[in-house]
Amino acid sequence: MSTCSIIHHVVMKLFIDSANIEEIRKAAKWGIIEGVTTNPSLIAKEKGDFRAIVSEICTLIDGPISAEVMAETVAEMIAEARSLAEWHKNIVIKIPCTFDGLTVARKLEAENISTNVTLVFSPNQVLLAALAGASFISPFVGRLDDAGENGLNMIARSLKILKNYGFASQIIAASIRSPLTVALSAELGTHIATVPFKILEQMIAHPLTDVGIERFKREWRASSK
Ligand code: G3P
Repeated sequence: MSTCSIIHHVVMKLFIDSANIEEIRKAAKWGIIEGVTTNPSLIAKEKGDFRAIVSEICTLIDGPISAEVMAETVAEMIAEARSLAEWHKNIVIKIPCTFDGLTVARKLEAENISTNVTLVFSPNQVLLAALAGASFISPFVGRLDDAGENGLNMIARSLKILKNYGFASQIIAASIRSPLTVALSAELGTHIATVPFKILEQMIAHPLTDVGIERFKREWRASSK
């Protein structure tokens, strides 16, 4: 038996927060996006029906693809979730953070259907979602900031709660409005950030990179190499 100690090496993942096929296709080509989160508002902005959009997304990125249930009772949410989960093996069921939602999450996880508890705004909601066994928990950073609260502080508190007890749930920093929020989420050790396409593009940009590329080209051309 090996005497090496086990190193728990957690790598942050980036998901794209979008239901737009062209955006997801472009981002997939970068080779660094490992999942997709949709929500009813994002789906509503796109042409085509829910199933067609989500099924196409599943062909573009081989990772967790969140699709949200819209039913309101426990029985209806479970039935809807089971039907969504049949569309593709990578579908994760997004469920609002209510007691009914947590009942549904517990039941689905027991059936090996992954869940993403969404619309999470408080540490107690994180605790309850973790106790329900949710695979993913999505605090909404930007909407907390909009409400005059500190979204990133909510992420830090969420991570601490999970770490204290070794919960297996992963935090998805959602409702991200700026590249700075992604960097700060990474500094906090957040498992996943789900990021709109425009902000993913902004993350790579730095004027000194562009200036540097131009300078290398100019000086290379000016030499006789
Ligand atoms: O995935 C849901 C979340 O990211 C929503 O973001 O900008 O509508 O608060 P936003």
